[in-house]
Parts: sequence; structure tokens; C-alpha cells
Amino acid sequence: MKKALALTLAATMALGLAACGSTPSNSEGGNGGGETVANKDKPLVWFNRQPSNSTTGELNMEALSFNDNTYYVGFDANQGAELQGQMVLDYIKNNIDTIDKNGDGIIGYVLAIGDKGHNDSIARTRGVRSALGTGVKDDKGNINSEAVGTNVDGKSTYVQDSTLEVDGKTYTIRELASQEMKNSTGATWDQSTAGNAIGTWSASFGDQIDVVVSNNDGMGMAMFNAWAKAKEVPTFGYDANSDAVAAIADGYGGTISQHADVQAYLTLRVLRNALDGVDADTGIGTKDAAGNQLSEDVFRYDAESRSYYALNVAVTKDNYKDFLDSKVTWAPVSNQLDEKTSPVKKVWLDIYNSNDTFLSSTYQPLLQQYDKLLNLDVEYIGGDGQSESSVLNRLTNPSAYDAFAINMIKTDNASSYINQLKQ
Ligand code: BGC
Repeated sequence: MKKALALTLAATMALGLAACGSTPSNSEGGNGGGETVANKDKPLVWFNRQPSNSTTGELNMEALSFNDNTYYVGFDANQGAELQGQMVLDYIKNNIDTIDKNGDGIIGYVLAIGDKGHNDSIARTRGVRSALGTGVKDDKGNINSEAVGTNVDGKSTYVQDSTLEVDGKTYTIRELASQEMKNSTGATWDQSTAGNAIGTWSASFGDQIDVVVSNNDGMGMAMFNAWAKAKEVPTFGYDANSDAVAAIADGYGGTISQHADVQAYLTLRVLRNALDGVDADTGIGTKDAAGNQLSEDVFRYDAESRSYYALNVAVTKDNYKDFLDSKVTWAPVSNQLDEKTSPVKKVWLDIYNSNDTFLSSTYQPLLQQYDKLLNLDVEYIGGDGQSESSVLNRLTNPSAYDAFAINMIKTDNASSYINQLKQ
């Protein structure tokens, strides 16, 4: 009698669990063999787009500390931006005899801005203006990161002309034009828009453009291919996508590697550690059983913002051959985990825009190698880059997953995802 009652109770409990629907995979790991985990308690990583206010840049700490297993993975935007600016300045100095194509004493550059509300984009605009001396500070001491439109006469108040002295000769540096490359339906970092912009700019003041700078390689390559390559105007981007690195042989000026190989690893690794219930530093700062470990020169962790930041490296004609394939995993963290201790788990992961060159041609192929090494069964969702619903509508059944990796469309929109996970 007693036994029968116990069995009935067990059956009822099992049914109850099934109704909650939260046993997505054969959960034997840290998330507790078969225990139900509420969606709001599952590991969550934000990546590439940091939850933040797109106007002020202020971090959204509520989203970044949504639960004990929430993190952000990105790269050090300021360090990278400084490197990009310095790379452009060094190029100008080292090529001073040939850079000023029309010999007017003004080194003119144009700038492609990705997304004026994205902190990576803002940092890069500031980094270039700061290194070249063209930045103008606001009352808070921040360099203005607004697009100038066109500034061929040097009268814009958003930027200023600067002077550069090389070998006893003084040159002026001028930001001739800059524009946020957003298309008519709202997609940012848009390559076609950048390709069209260089067409418009070069048609009216092409002989004054000595340097092309872009917040990323996607837009940079569009401008290079549409105009700069044929005119031998050096073009600088960011991301070290394979096609951009290869183009350095054809006159592309340089790019910055944001260590996507390290970021993609960290994106999945923080989830893996939480799912296994092991120390958060496992396989990151501390060697794991398979031998994976990152050295301090490739990343840093900021406990306050719960953020992992990969460090950047400049890629120029001096070292580009080492960066030709952007899809190779980072060797020190490429060892296969044991399925006995890290059993297969299901992860929901989105890419904000399936047409974003960096995320689709560099980041995702890397993730797809690490997911196997880390025994994660990842479902990849591609957004349209414009409306948050193109991603959110695909997160209707969070209970079917053990963990989430989110690349928002707009950095302000973290609360929409959080609400979906709270239900
Ligand atoms: C990359 C861009 C990309 C953007 C998307 C940036 O870090 O440099 O290429 O478009 O992220 O959020």
C-alpha cells in the first residue's frame, strides 16, 4: 500500500516536472541530474553587444547580473580603438612622401561609422579622431563621436583640423566626411551603404581623399573594392576578417584583430563552466583537465561589469601573414572536453544580423568549432539586424535549452530578453 502511494507520488511529481518543461537535455552536470532549472536561473552570456544605453553608453548592470551565471563577452573597445588610431597615424608618418596625393598639404580622410549607438563603434570613431588630433571634446571630456556629413571646407564644429609635423614639414589633417552607414530599413554597419557613400564622396572631392578609415572591415572592404583599391588609397578597418587581411597584399592599409578566436571560446566557455557547476575560471585563467587555458596577454576579466574582454592586435603589412585565416581556433584552448564530466547540453544562440560580415564570416565559424570541443549542442539563430523581434520571436521556448548566448540587435534591448526568460 505504502509502496503504491509512493509510486503514485513519484509519478505525479514527474508529470509536474514535465509540465514545467525544463529538462532540455540529459542533464547530468552541475545543473543537477534531471532537476528542473527555471529559465531565469539558466546560464546566460551576452556577447558582442554589451547591454548598455545607446545614448550615454552606461552599462545595464541589471542585465549584466541577471543571475549568478550571467556574463558579457566582448573585447577591449578602448584599447582596440587606440590601436586603430595609432595604426593610421603611423601609416601616414611612414608614407608621408606619397600620402598627400594632390599635394595640397592637407591629408584628408573619410570615416565610415557603424552604429552611432554601439559602444564599439563610438570607441573606434573616438580612437581615430584622438590619434589624428581631429577630435573635439564635449563638456564631459569625451571626444565627439557624431558623424560630420561632409567637411571639405574644414568648418565642422564636430571635428577640427589638426597639424602634423614630419621631417620639418607641416601638414594639416582633416576629416573630410563621415557618415553612419545605416540603410533605409535601419540595418547598421551596412556595407552597401558604405560602398555608395565612397562613390558619392569620391565623385565630388575624390582627389582630396588620401586615407579611408572604417569602424569595421565589412564597410572598409566595400569602400576599398568600390574605389580606394583602384586609386591606391590606403583603407583601414577593424576585425581582421580573412578577406580584409588578404587585401593588405593589395594595398588595404591594415585592420585590428579583436581576437575573435578568444571571444568565441569565452562565449561558450562561460556557459560550459556554469552548466558543469565548476569554478568560473576553469579553462580560462586556470587550466582545465583537458589542458585549456588562456594567457593574460589575450584577455582580461572585469569583475565589476561581469565582463570578459579579449585584447586587440594590430594587423598590418608587417604581420598579416599570421592572420590570413580568421577561422582558426586559438591553439591554447582547442582541446576536446571529456563528455563524462561535461555532458552534451543545449544552447540557444543568436547572431543579431546574419549578414554582418564579422559575425557570420569570422565569429560564427569559430563558435561552430568550439561548440564541438566543449560538447555543446548549439542552435544558431540569425536575426535581420533591424528589428529585435526577428530574434526574440525565435526565443519562444526557452525551456527547451540549458543556456543562452545573446547578441542583441540594439544594445538597449536587454530587458526584452530578460522578460522572456522570466516567464
Ligand atoms: C564588429 C563589427 C560588427 C559589430 C556587430 C563589432 O565589434 O567590429 O564588425 O558589425 O561588432 O555588433
